[in-house]
Amino acid sequence: MSAAHRIGHAGLRARVMSPEDAAGLIASGSTVGMSGFTGSGYPKRVPLALARRIEAEQAAGRPFRVRIWTGASTGPELDGALAKADGIEYRLPYNSDPIAREKINSGRMHYVDMHLSQVAPVAWQGFLGPLDTALVEVSGITEDGDLIPSTSVGNNKTWLERAGQVILEVNRWQSEALHGMHDIYYGAALPPNRVPIPLVRPDQRIGQPTFRCDLDKVVAVVETDAPDRNQPFSTPDAVAEAIAGHLLAFFRHEVARGRLPASLLPLQSGVGNVANAVLAGLMDAPFDTLTAYTEVIQDGMLDLLESGKLSLASATSLSLSPAAVERFNRDAARFRDRVILRPQEISNHPELVRRLGCLAMNGLIEADIYGNVNSTHVMGSRIQNGIGGSGDFARNAYVSIFMTPSTAKGGAISAIVPKVSHVDHIAQDVQVLVTEHGLADLRGLAPRQRARAIIDTCAHPDYRPALVDYLERAEAGSFGGHTPTLLGEAFAWHRRFIETGSMRPADGGAR
Ligand code: COA
Repeated sequence: MSAAHRIGHAGLRARVMSPEDAAGLIASGSTVGMSGFTGSGYPKRVPLALARRIEAEQAAGRPFRVRIWTGASTGPELDGALAKADGIEYRLPYNSDPIAREKINSGRMHYVDMHLSQVAPVAWQGFLGPLDTALVEVSGITEDGDLIPSTSVGNNKTWLERAGQVILEVNRWQSEALHGMHDIYYGAALPPNRVPIPLVRPDQRIGQPTFRCDLDKVVAVVETDAPDRNQPFSTPDAVAEAIAGHLLAFFRHEVARGRLPASLLPLQSGVGNVANAVLAGLMDAPFDTLTAYTEVIQDGMLDLLESGKLSLASATSLSLSPAAVERFNRDAARFRDRVILRPQEISNHPELVRRLGCLAMNGLIEADIYGNVNSTHVMGSRIQNGIGGSGDFARNAYVSIFMTPSTAKGGAISAIVPKVSHVDHIAQDVQVLVTEHGLADLRGLAPRQRARAIIDTCAHPDYRPALVDYLERAEAGSFGGHTPTLLGEAFAWHRRFIETGSMRPADGGAR
């Protein structure tokens, strides 16, 4: 594939340079809006060159750090390399890189964990400060200078519009058949000029297939030929399969009761192995002409598309294993009409999630007996990844479902605790909770009823007696209450884990 072929615009061809020269155009202290969402479509060469430059500057005694905004998580060549160089001063809105996580948790990197639909509007509101550089991977540039997006759209439209200067990475590794798969909506505005988003079905296209860009702002074009992060998924284990089984039985039950249509409603599926197992389970389930209005298309969704079970998937990014990428690239032309990639403010838009009636399925770190959910923090303090799109979908879904194995770390941690050590989703946003032990339908239940349902259905049997003991003593306590809580004890399980390496009470009781 020749460079000329991918870079159709003659003026931009003249701006091709090395990653090192492009990285030289980024100033210390500046803010860079980078592409990238769930390990796909992120720039791969300029961030690495920037990391090397930062290391050299720091070795020479000259502090050099930048502020990074992205769509969501990226890859080791971006977050990993820049964090390793200690080059990131500030980061938003989502991270899953282990080195960056360590910097965040040690207080070395400021991290703003945001609802992903809100990033673009907040950038437009202006209080995050100016955006100096947009560094965006594209899969090609047309003769007219329009930019053909890559495997994720994320916030790229906003970065290209807001930034003072633009650096493009043209990645010829990405399939050319991506052209036509994207739907870039240019109708978003700030109040008081907002209008309804004209999308009433997941398969609608309301924008254009390419990004517009003021070509005068493009200071560098860098060519790349490198794959996305493309992590493999593990084969669903017995726990993931049990969770999927409970969830699919719930869907069948809801259809039988007339509360869901036979083809369900648009699916939103979180990331990770459990989510993938649920999608795998749908292959053999009696639901057809399914649709997805979601954030990320992962392997299970590709299987459903290939089989015809899923008629359409709308998202903001692909997040596929290497094997699935190969299949996708081989057949990309076939998927073009059935995959739509949109800006994340549209893929996750609360207005659209509520209108379409999405079935939201997300993972969690821990839930408490009343159904509050912590998606982000381990033991209340250490961030794992971030809230991502889970809040965008959970608050606005037709049914908001959270799923998790009932224990973590080999059983030393119960995923069901007396009180969550951090709250991302309040009980009102959590309607169904699923573990390998069962599914608790919490809709219409009051707090004390929710607690019984969650303990009896979802908690691991080893932890049930201690949870019942806690609940009964809280209910009998002199202060009583709508949501009975023992303040002195609510976090005793977390404290015990930090002190002993296990939440299991030595004496079999809760205290
Ligand atoms: N306490 C401590 N650690 C816990 C834990 C708990 N209660 N529950 C899970 N973990 C740890 C696991 O041990 C694992 O750690 P490891 O990487 O060191 O092995 C890690 O968290 C991931 O857990 P895992 O069981 O592999 O689940 P997952 O891949 O399904 O991820 C979340 C679960 C919550 C971390 C993930 O779903 C997430 O980041 N969610 C927030 C964003 C989101 O929902 N995005 C989708 C919206 S579109």
